[in-house]
Amino acid sequence: MDVQHSSRFTVTRNSQAVSADARAVALEDPGFGRLFTDHMVTIRYTHGQGWHSHKVEPRAPFQLDPACAVLHYAQEIFEGMKAYRLADGSVAMFRPEENARRFAESAQRLAMPVLPEDVFLEAVEELVKIDANWIPSGEGSLYLRPFLFASETFLGVRPAHEYIFCVIASPAGAYFKGGKKAVTLWVSEHYTRAARGGTGAAKCGGNYAASLVAQAEAIDHGCDQVVFLDAAENKWVEELGGMNVFFVMDDGSIVTPPLGGTILPGITRNSIISLARAKGHDVREEPYSFAQWRADAASGKLREAFACGTAAVVTAIGTVKSSDGDFTIGNGDGGLVTESLRAELTGIQRGTVADPAGWVRTL
Ligand code: PLP
Ligand code: COI
Repeated sequence: MDVQHSSRFTVTRNSQAVSADARAVALEDPGFGRLFTDHMVTIRYTHGQGWHSHKVEPRAPFQLDPACAVLHYAQEIFEGMKAYRLADGSVAMFRPEENARRFAESAQRLAMPVLPEDVFLEAVEELVKIDANWIPSGEGSLYLRPFLFASETFLGVRPAHEYIFCVIASPAGAYFKGGKKAVTLWVSEHYTRAARGGTGAAKCGGNYAASLVAQAEAIDHGCDQVVFLDAAENKWVEELGGMNVFFVMDDGSIVTPPLGGTILPGITRNSIISLARAKGHDVREEPYSFAQWRADAASGKLREAFACGTAAVVTAIGTVKSSDGDFTIGNGDGGLVTESLRAELTGIQRGTVADPAGWVRTL
């Protein structure tokens, strides 16, 4: 075995890595979330000892006891971020410090130990470095999935005493099949995603488990994604199953639901707010009701709407379906504001547009 040390990590190269030819074929159409690279990063946590056993190693299954805490009480958090290949061949990540910070906040909410943010960043960079030849060229990117779960063998209900932090990587193309220009949403009437005081602002697996039945309902109605309303009044638009949402009005102003603990504070959301303000748009973080959404789409006051997130980037919303009927936004095909924000964001991420805020971190 080829074992080396890199900073605090012990590096073991995968002697059975996928061949360059097989990798090239796989990267032709990576899709989303179904292809994985040759390595992973792991760090263990033990109560009383802290973080230890930092490793870059061949990607392999974990051995877990059937009484492993995460399998019972879902003490798990994750992040989603991307590495890009720039035109000059270098590799960059977009605002990874924000993922490190959100990961720490999620850990606190789930009563988990907080991985120091510099270690989070180092772990992600180690994996990107060793698996850099898995970064697709062109529009693709390497989707990175850091996660932390309770690995203690114990059925008592309390924060676990042992955890595994892991980073895996997955070459990714478009999140929506065929790189859709505009998506169709289903408004969930029966299910909500998060209530005040809950875990809506944390990126924990349980939030997604709770969203799946609503997402399945969306698919049954021929839609791409579910949009959730607030749990208290079933009135205010919150976010989609895996994306934040923006509304573009006829006067050029932009509205997005405020962060209040029930929606995920998206890094793309935060970036879009800055970019839109720099372009002169009045951006308001304020509650927007589903009834208003329908009325504004009908009157033409609402010109565009879009979803945004790491996986989905910026994707126009064309049609909205609900049990009370459907409506279409604009011509149902997106619009110029959505397109210009998407172009600017992806240009910054790929180093073809100026990056005044210093969001891009080159490895
Ligand atoms: N909202 C939810 C529920 C998500 O899963 C995501 C994706 O991570 C987002 C919003 C967008 O967050 P970000 O832009 O940080 O990827
Ligand atoms: C992301 O955009 O990173 C997400 O987490 C959305 C989804 C793939 C869970």
